[in-house]
Amino acid sequence: MTADIEYGNPRNTPAWSALKQHAIQQAELNLSSLLSSAGRYASCSLQLDELICDFSRQLVTNETISLLTKLAEQQELPQQIDALFSGALVNTSEGRAALHTSLRGGSTGVQLDNCHVDAEVAHEQQRFLEFADAVRDGSHSGYGGARITTVINIGIGGSDLGPRMVSRALSADIQPVRVGFAAGLDGIELQELLRNAVPAETLFIVCSKTFTTLETRTNADAARAWLLNALPAEAVASNFAAVSVNDPALDEFGVATELRFRMWDWVGGRYSVWSAIGLAAAIAIGSDAYREMLAGAARMDEHFRTTDFDRNIPVISALLGIWNRNFLDNSQNVVLPYDQRLDLLPEYLQQLIMESLGKSVRQDGSMVDYATGAALWGGPGNPSQHSFSQWLHQGCAHAYVDYIGTVNGPQVLAAEGHAQAIANMIAQAEALSHGQSLEVVREGLIKAGLTSSEAERLAPQKVHPGNRPSTILMMKALSPRNLGMLLALYEHQVFVQAVIWGINPFDQWGVELGKSRAREYAAYLQGGSAEQLPGIGRQAVDWRKDSF
Ligand code: F6P
Repeated sequence: MTADIEYGNPRNTPAWSALKQHAIQQAELNLSSLLSSAGRYASCSLQLDELICDFSRQLVTNETISLLTKLAEQQELPQQIDALFSGALVNTSEGRAALHTSLRGGSTGVQLDNCHVDAEVAHEQQRFLEFADAVRDGSHSGYGGARITTVINIGIGGSDLGPRMVSRALSADIQPVRVGFAAGLDGIELQELLRNAVPAETLFIVCSKTFTTLETRTNADAARAWLLNALPAEAVASNFAAVSVNDPALDEFGVATELRFRMWDWVGGRYSVWSAIGLAAAIAIGSDAYREMLAGAARMDEHFRTTDFDRNIPVISALLGIWNRNFLDNSQNVVLPYDQRLDLLPEYLQQLIMESLGKSVRQDGSMVDYATGAALWGGPGNPSQHSFSQWLHQGCAHAYVDYIGTVNGPQVLAAEGHAQAIANMIAQAEALSHGQSLEVVREGLIKAGLTSSEAERLAPQKVHPGNRPSTILMMKALSPRNLGMLLALYEHQVFVQAVIWGINPFDQWGVELGKSRAREYAAYLQGGSAEQLPGIGRQAVDWRKDSF
């Protein structure tokens, strides 16, 4: 079933023209005055259970939101949401559905390629979560009955970032097993993880939807060689599990049938943490916590599917991104979690958002004539204040910030530090909004005893322009459920923006060209001739020969 939808140019909608006009009329809009208006927080914050989205520090009025929601209607967002959830082939360039939402529970009733999605998902979920618990409690053992003490996930991109981030965010203090992640092609991460590992006690999970990814294959081969250096060939069957759609490749590698977990074409890599790709995370946090995370995501799905756009958190978040990107010319989205356990979230979101929205051709094949996905980057909020936050406050580039906080922090030694961190988060958002004017700075300097000529020179350098937009996403605590809601929020945000821009958020053709060039250059490094480098300029740096 294809998604029977027009991918019209958003610039041709009445709402886009109205928003252009509106942006000109509101050019002088000032966050300080917006924030001082009565009822600002009430009208610019949305809550779903234990998650609050406070967008009062965005340069918007009620009229802006109303025009943006009209844009969503005029780009047929309601029909597209139905298409997404009903299993229509919304990934048009690959002719696939995008049914990651079906992995979070609930019944879709969808039948795809003669497979009953709900039944398949439930069956596979049961299998991999039972396996996760069996590894945790020792009932699944490694070669010769050894208790598994080390689990190493081998994967890259969506087969690494999701489980890695979730494990880091939700792992309890004491782990029954050590869970690590190896992604990089040069094998350094793998080597570090193997430093104190005991072969029979080490379980490798090779996560690769395609099972053809160079980095993953290279690390998996190295891991197998390491294992077989100490143990006989049968150890592969007990100490390797895998998640993939590629059964022939798993046969060839020697993964035991009972330790193979299924993926489906209709789950994109960057949307796959909810599938068996999340196995390493399930081992780190346990099946109960993992199921809670799924339930949180399902809750956000339901909210997204059923709530009016002006109260719909993913829709509003997406529209704020459109407003920033297309009408305020803010080309960078900086994500700053103020809970150290979420320090890998920006990296995870980077793939989700930039691989999905880094497109400039619409689904109908025409070039866009408007900006699409912003560059997303960031880091753990509090340490960032001592590195790049200066750029946010006084730099020249245009950015909008997502602050992410948790009211209740982790139970750690320096527990009061969390409250301080949250105070810093609010202070950062406030400083970005209000800035500090020349007059205020000058007055302060004069009061501090500077001469007026000294103050004249110094004051402009201390001015903070302010009026820089941000959103605060606040959770009561970093529970599995709330994390599930947060991740699903971002996924739907991506979908809404893709719908408005008319681009496909589920393919990634842009990563292929570099891969094929790398294959050519690798063949050359291994002794091939320079004439066999069709894609690479002959003038490319030649590090095979006597460069050093
Ligand atoms: O980088 C491209 C990409 O295809 C990602 O989309 C994907 O998550 C990653 O590679 C890993 O792919 P696989 O799971 O097939 O190894």
